[in-house]
Amino acid sequence: MCLQLLSLSPAGAQAVTGPKQVTVEQGSSLAVSCSYKPRYKLNSKYWCRKNSLWPCLTYIIETDGSEVTVTQDRVSIRDNHTANSFTVTLNSVTPGDAGQYSCGVKKRVGINRWHSTKVMVSAAVSNTTEDSNLSPLTTNPLCLRD
Ligand SMILES: *[C@@H]1O[C@H](CO)[C@@H](O)[C@H](O)[C@H]1NC(C)=O
Ligand SMILES: *[C@@H]1O[C@H](CO)[C@@H](O)[C@H](O)[C@H]1NC(C)=O
Repeated sequence: MCLQLLSLSPAGAQAVTGPKQVTVEQGSSLAVSCSYKPRYKLNSKYWCRKNSLWPCLTYIIETDGSEVTVTQDRVSIRDNHTANSFTVTLNSVTPGDAGQYSCGVKKRVGINRWHSTKVMVSAAVSNTTEDSNLSPLTTNPLCLRD
């Protein structure tokens, strides 16, 4: 049973493709685009958090199969039927957002198709370095002349 399900995963990974991993700076916005086979154009697309090899049981956000943008809290999802791809956006990224996610296509019959992406969150660029570079300038007598 276990082996059978696992052996089906590679097929699912081919129907939906996307980045293996993305790095986003803390506080900024993350955008992940996933492509799908044209035959899934009108299927619902979803984004979910993954804790294991198993498919997601609940979705963070999903489309109804149309190109209408769906937004919930910091997350939005938008399908593009022309490009055969959909984009998930996550705003105001926090360290807690780091982890494994899946972008997927819901199937009415049979198992869903999905692609897994690792999201890594980098520390926000420090202001301190910039400040210490700026301070000498503002106190530089040359700048204050006149
Ligand atoms: C959808 O994708 C097509 C082709 O890449 C692009 O020209 C179009 O601007 C996209 N539509 C939206 C709403 O982003
Ligand atoms: C540095 O900090 C100031 C004040 O907190 C903020 O307005 C500014 O956007 C920051 N700059 C960068 C590059 O993060």
